[in-house]
Amino acid sequence: MPPIAVSVRSGAPEESSADTRVIGLFEGEPPAGDAPRSLVDSGEAKSAPRKLAVAHEAGANGASRRVILVGLGKRDELDAERARVAAAVATARARELGARSLSWALPDPGVAAALVEGTVLALYEFDRFKSAKDPDAPDGRIESLELVGSGDSVAGDAERARVIAEAQNGARDLQNLPSNVATPAFLAERAVALAEAHPALSCEVLDRGQVAALKMGAFSAVAQGSDTEPKLIVLRYEGGGSGPHLGYVGKAVTFDTGGISIKPSGKMQEMKFDMSGGAAVIEALGAIATLELPVRITAVVPATENMPSGHSMKPGDIVTAMNGKTIEVNNTDAEGRLILADALAYAVDQGAERIVDLATLTGAIIVALGSTYAGLFSNDDGWYAEVEGACRTTGELGWRLPLHPEYFELTKGRYADLTNASEQRKASSIYAAEFLRQFVDDRPWVHVDIAGTAWDQSGRPYVGSGASGFGVRMLVELARRTGEAEH
Ligand code: BES
Ligand code: MN
Ligand code: ZN
Repeated sequence: MPPIAVSVRSGAPEESSADTRVIGLFEGEPPAGDAPRSLVDSGEAKSAPRKLAVAHEAGANGASRRVILVGLGKRDELDAERARVAAAVATARARELGARSLSWALPDPGVAAALVEGTVLALYEFDRFKSAKDPDAPDGRIESLELVGSGDSVAGDAERARVIAEAQNGARDLQNLPSNVATPAFLAERAVALAEAHPALSCEVLDRGQVAALKMGAFSAVAQGSDTEPKLIVLRYEGGGSGPHLGYVGKAVTFDTGGISIKPSGKMQEMKFDMSGGAAVIEALGAIATLELPVRITAVVPATENMPSGHSMKPGDIVTAMNGKTIEVNNTDAEGRLILADALAYAVDQGAERIVDLATLTGAIIVALGSTYAGLFSNDDGWYAEVEGACRTTGELGWRLPLHPEYFELTKGRYADLTNASEQRKASSIYAAEFLRQFVDDRPWVHVDIAGTAWDQSGRPYVGSGASGFGVRMLVELARRTGEAEH
């Protein structure tokens, strides 16, 4: 999908050459931008969020032009999330109606970025494996978006938002690609391609032998069951700045069968999404490099399948992670924490001073928080506040759950330092976080469990029920904040 062209102009909204105009409607206010009176007078256009009405007006050269009125609710309640949703529902309708070009009358300069995000994300589709086109799909596609309004930051905000939303769509592509295509080597090639496109970005890809040579016994144990080659993908971004060196770590299990502790077959196909954390990290680095943010980041993405086979790890096996800690593998389906253990230790080794990891780690986080909030866990209140702030600013929400020495007790092994899964199925999302904590060397760290938010965010119309690309916006925002702060 070629990227959509985004432009900004001031002047009268109705002087647009787009085939479809979009106008927001606030409660108790007449619509801005010379909207057709018919819709408003008839009461067809409603101001409640997500409500839509469509009319036609005479456009350029007398041709008929579509006008979509979209409800925005109360003016003082307009925030980025409401704007993203409004843009997404308007885009979906415009697309159904065969629009090729959109023009949004900006309801407020502060939501320019959100309107671009909502539009670009709503236009995403994954249909490349359909051999015949959907007969109901419109011919052509929406190729351009114009924002009409003024404000010093609008043009910059809009362009940044376009870059970030395209990166999020890139992560959605990696998520959606099936595991026979999106292998560890495929993810590595994507990371290499990004590095080749940006001078400040470099990529190193370690293979099975190199991972073993680094004494990554936990990552190696997960990978040993698969005939598909694992990769440790390391992306280094040198954007300068005086802020701390960040470590971004993303789980990339390209398919999680559970291994010998095999999962039930119902819905197992969803486990192609078990690389969502890695996908978000890789694409976020591409966006950060495009935006030339003044920050230094080492991104570490351990990529492997988790398979049952004659050479798989088995329950009871004891492995030694890169930092010397020994782990009893009591459930081979708790593989994410094993590969992250070595990836986190590697990030520490590389000098990361603030660490964040994203992982589809536990089914229990879906039970606890659904698809609305990701689970946040941290050993440092200051760094936690930065990450949570980045979540709130971008609408990729996170909610903190506790760590506590009593939970850590549960992770102690009978025969080794740690066990990757306890028989007591207590607090399993926190358990996993306590386990990961053993590999960050007390550096400020936030673990983000995205098992509930990586797909099926059906409450967010701009991503809908499929792959969400969750985390890209938050990671870019975190880099922006770190680059901006005085240290
Ligand atoms: N990738 C899964 C977690 C998951 C489950 C994500 C469902 C999305 C939807 C992870 O590797 C896993 O299997 N976790 C187990 C851990 C358990 C065996 C201790 C879980 O959460 O059940
Ligand atoms: Mn698993
Ligand atoms: Zn998994």
